[in-house]
Amino acid sequence: MEKVIDESVQGQTLVQDKQEQNHKKLYIESYGCQMNFSDSEIVASILQKNGFNTTNELIEADLVLVNTCSIRDKAEQTVRKRLEKYNAVKKHNPKMKVGVLGCMAERLKSKFLEEEKIVDLVVGPDAYKDLPNLIEEVESGRNAMNVILSKEETYGDISPVRLQSNGVSAFVSITRGCDNMCTFCVVPFTRGRERSRDPKSIIDEVNDLWSKGFKEITLLGQNVDSYLWYGGGLKKDFKKASPIQQATAVNFANLLEMVAKAQPKMRIRFSTSNPQDMTIDVIESMAKYDNICNYIHLPVQSGSDRVLKKMNRLHTREEYFQLIENIRTRIPDCGISQDMIAGFPSETEADHQDTISLMEHVKYDFGFMFTYSERPGTLGAKKFKDDVPEATKKRRLQEIIDLQQKHSRFRTEQHLGKIQEVLIEKESKKSDLQWSGRNAQSTTVVFPKEHYKVGDYVMVEMKDCTSATLIGEAVGYGPMQA
Ligand code: SAH
Ligand code: F3S
Repeated sequence: MEKVIDESVQGQTLVQDKQEQNHKKLYIESYGCQMNFSDSEIVASILQKNGFNTTNELIEADLVLVNTCSIRDKAEQTVRKRLEKYNAVKKHNPKMKVGVLGCMAERLKSKFLEEEKIVDLVVGPDAYKDLPNLIEEVESGRNAMNVILSKEETYGDISPVRLQSNGVSAFVSITRGCDNMCTFCVVPFTRGRERSRDPKSIIDEVNDLWSKGFKEITLLGQNVDSYLWYGGGLKKDFKKASPIQQATAVNFANLLEMVAKAQPKMRIRFSTSNPQDMTIDVIESMAKYDNICNYIHLPVQSGSDRVLKKMNRLHTREEYFQLIENIRTRIPDCGISQDMIAGFPSETEADHQDTISLMEHVKYDFGFMFTYSERPGTLGAKKFKDDVPEATKKRRLQEIIDLQQKHSRFRTEQHLGKIQEVLIEKESKKSDLQWSGRNAQSTTVVFPKEHYKVGDYVMVEMKDCTSATLIGEAVGYGPMQA
């Protein structure tokens, strides 16, 4: 036992020594999904071992890395604008090198080096371990690129450097890639085939986070419910695994239970759930463990069966309602949120009304809503004409947003008068006399600080609300307080 402690102390000292020896500065910025933010923490860790500490000042950076998103055209435009900014800064900081990571790197590959003179380095989501070699190449004056997608890489062996962390909540990625091929989505092309991470390395990371004082983790993947560990390899090759591997495989419901049991005082969240892959077992694991938060992000994209089919979402509207009912009967107070796309090719007014009526039926707590953006290379771009006029897309989107706002208010009001456990995450943006945290359903709660501190679990009586925020008063510590 003593030896183990010695080793961990020694490990800690080694990391500190490394940080002190590092003399190069990395500025890293992330756009898009939570997975990108999580990947940037892996990149920071890889580069910390190779001479770089992070900085928040562009002007002093030796290396600028931008982790990019391709999900909609607008996301790509945002990144192009940032490159212009780097260009302006480079005039005052000529030593600065610029690298592009993530989905745009994978999608555009060498085109990036041709189109954007400021870019020295292009690295896809599965090639971050090659960064030290690629940077060496860049430092010797050449452009460098690695956009090879992997069948194995999960970065399971890398302990992420927590960037911009509040010290309370952290992301833990559990799967990479996606096999679903929704016809609108670029992710399967930019992030490759789906593979799952060894549950042991997931539990190790969760235990490590707990020992560092973290109180909440979000298990991350494009499609977490499809998690399947059978010893490594692609999800699609599971059929070829040996009978023993198949019999001892760990699915998402199993993983949730393992994590919940490993750290019973840690809040567990997960994202994203594709409805077609969410099983009753997952809902039952959630119901069984108090530390798994009663909240599911369950994107549906459309309420029309015809559109769902064209999107290659492998469920019907009725099946989705059945799933919602299964959730509500087992977890009556479960928060549920959505993603919606307005104006998918050929979407009619009747299809749009189906989306509206589906929303009326579910009454989501929150939502993330977008107009359809055609993505080059997707099946949608190849097979369907982007034929819904922009003005119609925008009008439909606005109707969806307005309805969601009404439902958010309705759901937030359901919490009024209740006493709920809230994990304090940070100071409220509006007042330095108030804390901000979330209840299990992921609704933001603000309340007077009193003697409580960041990371405390506090029981809060909900007294008032706006459409998306609860305003309360603390009545004591919660049962999860260690
Ligand atoms: N894996 C998740 C979604 C990941 S992408 C799932 O199972 O649904 C996040 C969201 O971006 C999607 O849910 C979708 O609503 C939106 N999105 C993806 N591609 C889009 C496109 N081409 N145009 C508009 N919105 C898109
Ligand atoms: Fe995209 Fe569908 Fe996968 S939305 S990330 S292809 S589940």
